[in-house]
Amino acid sequence: MGLRIMGTGGALPARSVTNDELSAFLDTSDEWIRQRTGIRSRRVCTTETLDELAVLAAERAMEAAGVVASDLDLILCTTTSGDHLIPSEACAVQVGIGASCPAFDISAACAGFVYALDVADGWFARGRADCVLVVSAEKCTRIVDWQDRATCVLFGDGAGAAVLGRGDGGLRSIRLATMGDLDALSLPGVIGSSPFDQTERDPQVLSMQGHTVFKFGVTSIVREVRALAADGGMKVGDIDHFVFHQANDRILDAAIRTLGIDSGRVVRTLAHTGNISSACIPVALDALAREGGLRDGDHVAIVGFGAGLCVGSCLIDWEPARRPVASPPPTQEQDGP
Ligand code: UT7
Repeated sequence: MGLRIMGTGGALPARSVTNDELSAFLDTSDEWIRQRTGIRSRRVCTTETLDELAVLAAERAMEAAGVVASDLDLILCTTTSGDHLIPSEACAVQVGIGASCPAFDISAACAGFVYALDVADGWFARGRADCVLVVSAEKCTRIVDWQDRATCVLFGDGAGAAVLGRGDGGLRSIRLATMGDLDALSLPGVIGSSPFDQTERDPQVLSMQGHTVFKFGVTSIVREVRALAADGGMKVGDIDHFVFHQANDRILDAAIRTLGIDSGRVVRTLAHTGNISSACIPVALDALAREGGLRDGDHVAIVGFGAGLCVGSCLIDWEPARRPVASPPPTQEQDGP
């Protein structure tokens, strides 16, 4: 398959909100949140718009890849929490970076980044693109119910991006699956003001069946990692880095135990970002790249899972066209995760 990641970028809002700050207005505690999730703080938009974060992440990925806006043949964005439903987030990125290529969004909740890789791979395979920008940007703090301690403590805001180039086999395997479930994790659409609408209208906040999603996350990671290794003709132990969706450290711990993998190979950014939905994976990948953790030829397994229920996974041989540039860190004012 012809795709390689040429450069990554991330952008997080400046404001970090600690668990103690949440317990000032919610019936929760730092101890509960840390023990049950691993989250210590999350980044929260205050003055930043999501469009700004998305553009910043895109610019950093383009700088790392050594490409300019006119090099791009396609822009794909993923978001469930954009500043606007129309136009797409991808259009806002196109305007922000001054590109002129086609741009559209993909909706697969927290698995969105991998779904976007798959679409890009198709564009490369059909000869329609040599260079694709993927941006996953989420302002989850606008979709949670801030009176629901079971959900609002989990999420944060941020954006991650990757520039993809046509390659000769960097992408060893990519897998998508959707196990239709409309209730496990959902957010209603715009209510509108139609005088004819007689349907029931749920509150416009995220609702989640935590236990169902937890089990789905663990089983998805375990199944996908085994399948990726088999597809790649290798053992799970041969995989150098694991970049999983960052929803709960206990999900990662359970999957690590079952797979018997070295936990040092699993990227963890959750503690200081919270769950940023589809942005988790590119932000984690960017952190790994900028910390110098990736060597050419390293095998990287990625698994995203979330509402839908959707799961997307891929196995990549790391061979960027250019090495990622050193800092800047993924936020304007504070260190990244
Ligand atoms: O991107 C994908 C989306 N999300 C996920 O992947 C999340 C997957 N699920 C989870 O991570 C976990 O299920 C949660 C973190 C959401 C919940 O953890 P849990 O260990 O499954 O807790 P629980 O739902 O079984 O709740 C245990 C107790 C309950 O109290 P009672 O009924 O035992 O008295 C909850 O009301 O913890 C209570 N609780 C809280 N207590 C303090 C729930 N949220 C909080 C809170 N602070 N924030």
